Order: sequence, then C-alpha cells, then structure tokens
Amino acid sequence: MPNLVVVGAQWGDEGKGKVVDHLAQSADMVVRYQGGPNAGHTVCFRGREIILHQIPSGILTPGVKAVIGCGCVIDPYTLAEESAALRRLKISYGRRLLIDSRAHMILPYHRMLDTLQDKQRGKRRIGTTGRGIGPAYQDKLARVGIRAADLLHEDIFMDKLRRNVAAANFVLMDRYKADPISFKSLAEDYWKVTRPLARMVGDGSAVVEQELKKGTRVLFEGAQGVHLDLDLGTYPYVTTSSTGAWGVGPGVGISPLWLEQVVGVAKAYTTRVGMGPFPAEIEGSESEVLRKLGAEYGATTGRPRRCGWFDAGLLRASVRYNRFTALVVTKLDVLDSLEEIKVCTGYSLNGRRVREFDAAHAVELEPQYITMRGWRQPTGSCRKYRELPLGARRYLRKIEELVGCPIALISVGSDRTQMVEMKPGALKWLKSG
Ligand code: GDP
Ligand code: IMO
Ligand code: MG
Repeated sequence: MPNLVVVGAQWGDEGKGKVVDHLAQSADMVVRYQGGPNAGHTVCFRGREIILHQIPSGILTPGVKAVIGCGCVIDPYTLAEESAALRRLKISYGRRLLIDSRAHMILPYHRMLDTLQDKQRGKRRIGTTGRGIGPAYQDKLARVGIRAADLLHEDIFMDKLRRNVAAANFVLMDRYKADPISFKSLAEDYWKVTRPLARMVGDGSAVVEQELKKGTRVLFEGAQGVHLDLDLGTYPYVTTSSTGAWGVGPGVGISPLWLEQVVGVAKAYTTRVGMGPFPAEIEGSESEVLRKLGAEYGATTGRPRRCGWFDAGLLRASVRYNRFTALVVTKLDVLDSLEEIKVCTGYSLNGRRVREFDAAHAVELEPQYITMRGWRQPTGSCRKYRELPLGARRYLRKIEELVGCPIALISVGSDRTQMVEMKPGALKWLKSG
C-alpha cells in the first residue's frame, strides 16, 4: 500500500492544507513531521474555512488517524484554539490524535524571545512568524528542551521549567532589558492548559511504523516549503526545521527506506512571507494585482505575502532535492483574468546561464522570463483536464517541460472539490485510492 510525502515546493503557503485534505480522503493516517504553529494550513470544509497550525489537515476526514511527530514543536495554547475551532465544526478527534512523546514544547518565553531576537536583527531581520519556533528548536539543540513526555510527570516538568525560566529571565533582563516572567504563574497556567494533551502523548514512531508494516495508507504532511529548509533553503532567511522529504525520517522516527513517493505542491505563481531573496518577485504596485486576485495574506500572521511569477529554476532545485514523483499545481484560477503571464525559465549570473536556483547566490541571480498569453476564462468549475481553456493547458504543459516533472493534479479553487487530474498515473496514491 502506498505512502506519500506532501512537500511545499516553494516558500510555503502553496496550498498544502487543501491538497492534504483532498488526498486524505483515501488515507488511514496523516503525520506532521516538522515545524509547529508557524504553519497555517487552510482547508475549506462544508463551505467553511478552517486554518490548522499543528493538527494534521487529514483530521477533517472521518476515521483518519493523525500524528504530530517527534520533529515538531508544540504550542498548547494554539492547539487549544485549533481544538475549539474543530469543535465548532462538530469534529471530534480525541482518540484519533497522537502526540509523539519526544516532540518539544513551545513555552511563552520562546515567543517573547522570538520577537525580541528578530527585532534586534534590525535590517537583517528574518520576519519570523513570532510563534517561538526558533527559540524552541534552540532549546532542543542545546539539550534543555521540555518534551511532551515531561507533561506526564509533574515533578520532572516543574524542575525543568524552573531551570529554563531562570535561564530565559537572565536573557530577557540582561540582553533585552525586558521584564522577567514569573515562574509560579507560568507553571500553574501551563500545567492547566496541557492537561487535555497528556492523554494523547505516546510513541508516534512505533505507531506509524506499525501502520506502515500493516500496509495501510499513510500521508506525511510537510509544513513550510523546500526553500525555507534550515539546510537547503535561503539561509539565514529560513525556518528552523527540515521541511523536505528528508525531514520525515528524524521527524517521525522511521527509516527513510519506508518512503515510497514524494509529491511537491507548487502555486501557479510564487509567494513568500518574511524577508529573504526572491528572484522572480514582482516589484512595486504590480504585485498588488496577484496579491488581490490570490488573497495573498498570511494564514498565521495576516501579513501581506510578497508575490512573483512561477519560477522553474526554483522548482528544479526542489525536484532534485526531493525526487518528486509528481507536482500538484495550485491556484491556477488566480491567473484566469490576466492578459499576459510571465514564467521565469532560469537565471543569468555574471553573464552565465544558470538553470537551477542556487541559494548561495540567490541575491545575484537575474531571472530570465518568457511571456505567455493568458486564457481569460474562468477555470474554477473545471473538473476534467480537457475542460480547462487551451491557454491554461499550454501553461501547465510549459511548467512540466521546464521543470521536468509531471503534474498529477491541478487545484482551481480553495474548495476540496475544485481539483482536476492531469496525469494521475504519476501518483501511485491516486491510482490505488
Ligand atoms: P498552506 O500553508 O500550504 O496550507 O497554504 P495556506 O493555507 O497558507 O494558503 C493557501 C491559500 O490558498 C488558502 O487560503 C487556501 O484556501 C487557498 N487555496 C488553496 N488552493 C487554492 C486554489 O486552487 N485556488 C484558490 N483561489 N485558492 C486556493
Ligand atoms: P506553511 O506551513 C510561509 C517563514 C516566516 C519567516 C521564516 C522563519 O503555512 O506553509 P519562523 O517563524 O518559522 O521562524 O519564520 O519562515 N514561514 C512561513 N512562510 N508559510 C509557512 O508555513 C511559514 N512558516 C514560516 O515568514 O520568513
Ligand atoms: Mg500557510
């Protein structure tokens, strides 16, 4: 039975939530393997919209089990809000969600430090989501982090928290001249908010492997995107986790040899939130056109997303790093009204032609464009490839040709049903679903 890794192929917000929700309709389990509430995965469900930050998007499908893997960082306050949003949709997941005991916890001082650190970077700020992601992973690497397992033992938890609050207060007061936090009130409040989670804590690694051994259908849901990866992204303008398919092994606690297929989700154009290089970015007021058409505002922070054209060089790097079997292209409908659409086919660097995006020289890459005629017809109600306007089909085939990877699915709207199969055979998941 197939398993599939779903990876954001650009700089995040490609529509992974929608794609995972769609594919999860034939899944048994969905697993998040990295990141935390910096993610904002939107799913349109029964005409309503829900934004999931930490709970895997497959949770909306009845019967699908969900796991938050050991490579994730967890904010219990955000999780409580997500939980309330799901309850409002009358979705109960109590017994279906498992939190790996090795996952690290985000504490309120991580959030404070995230904001203060980024502010202190001044002109070099990363523009983080302010969710405490970087500082929580810093504690993990410094081997002082508090893990989900610690929520099962009050004395161990309190002991670790006391030491970490003292360390955080030193930095807050000494480096940032900020007010210290009170251990007592934090400890009481945090212990209270984490009680409902304690019963969901278990061995995610063993549970996922058991499913894989049984041959059930497991989806791995990536957060952020390939070019925000800590190692391969546009460092230092990256997040602090391994966003690509290579993150699944350590982020779930399974051997990479279990993985069968990897699909990359890419928008029909490109967006980025926060700072950092973006060769195919549209400068000035022109980018407002795409921002308006695509409602490009961050699902987590509400910040306007930077917008640009589809960048084939960026995708070539994503395909190579991940060995994508296929792509899912989202938000095609956003381009419906444009007269002309540009596509970045590669770059020039000091007069030399460069085919693949190179993070080490990202700011020097000069994008090379071709211009294609728009199709100027709505695509939102198309459900079959041949129903798409000729111009849209040409555009998609051009993307396949430039990137060198087949497109399995095309998303033409935010609703679960607004999906068109282009080359379903490229994805084993769809063939056997
Ligand atoms: P994610 O982080 O990759 O899950 O993406 P986000 O949820 O942050 O951002 C994607 C946005 O685009 C959400 O508002 C989705 O509802 C919306 N969306 C997803 N697919 C489509 C599509 O094909 N067309 C349109 N118009 N919107 C889409
Ligand atoms: P999803 O899963 C888009 C960006 C931030 C910032 C950088 C580091 O919804 O695609 P962090 O808070 O992680 O330390 O911020 O990464 N970023 C995202 N951009 N989508 C996301 O998630 C993101 N998560 C983080 O804007 O530039
Ligand atoms: Mg998002």
